[in-house]
Amino acid sequence: MLVGWFEQNARDLPWRRTNDPYAIWVSEIMLQQTQVRTAIPYFERWMRALPTVESLARISSGRLHKLWEGLGYYTRVRNLQKSARMICQDHNAQFPQQYDAVRALPGIGPYTAGAICSIAFNQPTPILDGNVIRVLSRVFAITSDPKEPRTNTLLWQLAEALVTRAARLSPPSGCLPCSALNQSLMELGATLCTPRSPSCPLCPVQPHCGARQRGIQEQLPLPARRPATTQRHFLAFLVEHKERYLVRQRPDGMVNAHLWEFPNAEVKAPLSTKLDATARKMGLRIIDRKPLCTLKHSITRYRITLAAHRAEVVNLGTLADGHWFTRRQLDRLAFTSAHRQILRAATL
Ligand code: ADE
Repeated sequence: MLVGWFEQNARDLPWRRTNDPYAIWVSEIMLQQTQVRTAIPYFERWMRALPTVESLARISSGRLHKLWEGLGYYTRVRNLQKSARMICQDHNAQFPQQYDAVRALPGIGPYTAGAICSIAFNQPTPILDGNVIRVLSRVFAITSDPKEPRTNTLLWQLAEALVTRAARLSPPSGCLPCSALNQSLMELGATLCTPRSPSCPLCPVQPHCGARQRGIQEQLPLPARRPATTQRHFLAFLVEHKERYLVRQRPDGMVNAHLWEFPNAEVKAPLSTKLDATARKMGLRIIDRKPLCTLKHSITRYRITLAAHRAEVVNLGTLADGHWFTRRQLDRLAFTSAHRQILRAATL
């Protein structure tokens, strides 16, 4: 019933037109923290640029980060390359088929390993992410907190029972039952069984849905407790000299590592009056400045306000790790999203 609905209603997504495990792996990593709509053009561009595991293993760090620019959570792309190098070394450049070998690759947790093995190899490996948690919590009317270990284990067991049963049923010809079952859970969660206002009348499992029978579908699953947010404030300086801009690359081991940005520093006050002192601490001696733009964005639990200023400085060579690049050169570098916006505001 569910699989039949999926075969009729599945969205046409580029990673559904292939059974290349490499492409399916790339799509699953992109989709870990990125919405389908956003991921599509990135996925298509990636597959044109890097059609094979070997090409991913070989690409330069700069081009790799540029392909991911704007998607955030850049550890994902570095883990993709680390894994590709392991696959070339240890698996003769063939994507491994065994669940444990897939799970052992950096950046691949139980959900992603289950998704790859079921979709690419039609293995009865379960998947459980936010969408699937919602579908199963509703169908089985699970009223306890899905993050709580006992409930979480129960949800994994249900996901496993469903995909194992799908593997045993004789599928219509051409249907890969484990792949279709898992993708239909994802699809139902993404399209009909949505967090708010689910489309129950259109749902293929409505007759069997425990939450619907009790009229509690919108209350399930129990909402996760959100971590408290913290406000942070940064000042950034756009320094231009002879049509070149002063930038630096974020070092290894920090958020947005390897990405490029304008010189900036965290300040305590929301609208810091200590602009010149902040710049001086970084080695920039400002003689003139004008506000350029103020941006708000979030990284994990941090709510960040970033005030950017055009600055004229007397000492052009003293920023540690500073590089001077033309606008065209900057376009080839991977910038953090906020600093890409500063660049746009500055050069509109
Ligand atoms: N979300 C995670 N994996 C997905 C997939 N393969 N298709 C659609 N949405 C997804």
